Amino acid sequence: MTAMVKAEGVHKSYGAAHILKGIDLEVNNGEVFCLVGPSGSGKSTFLRCINHLEKINSGRLYVDGQLVGYRQKGDKLYELKDSEVAVQRRDIGMVFQRFNLFPHMTALGNVMEAPIQVKGESKAVARERAERLLDRVGLRDKMGNYPSQLSGGQQQRVAIARALAMEPKLMLFDEPTSALDPELVGDVLDVMRDLAESGMTMVVVTHEMGFAREVGDNLVFMDGGVVVESGHPRDVLGNPQHDRTKAFLSKVL
Ligand SMILES: Nc1ncnc2c1ncn2[C@@H]1O[C@H](COP(=O)(O)OP(=O)(O)OP(=O)(O)O)[C@@H](O)[C@H]1O
Ligand SMILES: [Mg+2]
Repeated sequence: MTAMVKAEGVHKSYGAAHILKGIDLEVNNGEVFCLVGPSGSGKSTFLRCINHLEKINSGRLYVDGQLVGYRQKGDKLYELKDSEVAVQRRDIGMVFQRFNLFPHMTALGNVMEAPIQVKGESKAVARERAERLLDRVGLRDKMGNYPSQLSGGQQQRVAIARALAMEPKLMLFDEPTSALDPELVGDVLDVMRDLAESGMTMVVVTHEMGFAREVGDNLVFMDGGVVVESGHPRDVLGNPQHDRTKAFLSKVL
């Protein structure tokens, strides 16, 4: 079985700043893979490399067996054209801390937009799917609301439905609940749990250790651009082996 995500010796620098220093990891199909670590450790950078919003400097990164952003001929790599990268990216849904919904469109409009614009889908088909997805994230009554008429947690659930509308094979979450008021976090985590149970492969950057422990299949602790330790969330969180992991967890748990 090919892994959904495979990183081999991934390095990333911004100018002279060496951010990712050789990341090796594998995310299996259907797995919830949690990434935790202190601020600045490179978690968001790594997620952005997975859908080629950032170019890696060396190493190899594969999604579903395909090299991200490159084509390999012999032992040489050739960069894909923007249009080819866009096709790769279609299959990867991304949800950020800030939801970035289109403010001038209703919840329904936001979820219908990409399939129509990117895949040339008919309005009727896009609408049917959007209604089903908004129902699934608990927003059946809010489909006609504009983002300004929704709470942060509701907006984030629209953002998740919007990503799902493209029928991705992989979902990336970058601290999806950390901008929310505490009482709104639970509904978003419930949606993510439901998605995990449906078999979606998910890479989740989060500080919600309860979620990681309960829903995660694997957890990686990153610090300073390297993987310090990894394993089942229960083991890494319950019995961390490295001092850096212990120090971090003592602050967040
Ligand atoms: N576009 C950029 N140009 C230059 N430096 C950047 C850029 N993006 C990120 N960095 C730097 O890379 C490092 C890692 O950033 P990154 O956002 O990946 O960390 P993070 O682990 O997601 O942190 P946080 O938990 O605060 O979100 C930081 O030192 C950051 O300043
Ligand atoms: Mg980040």
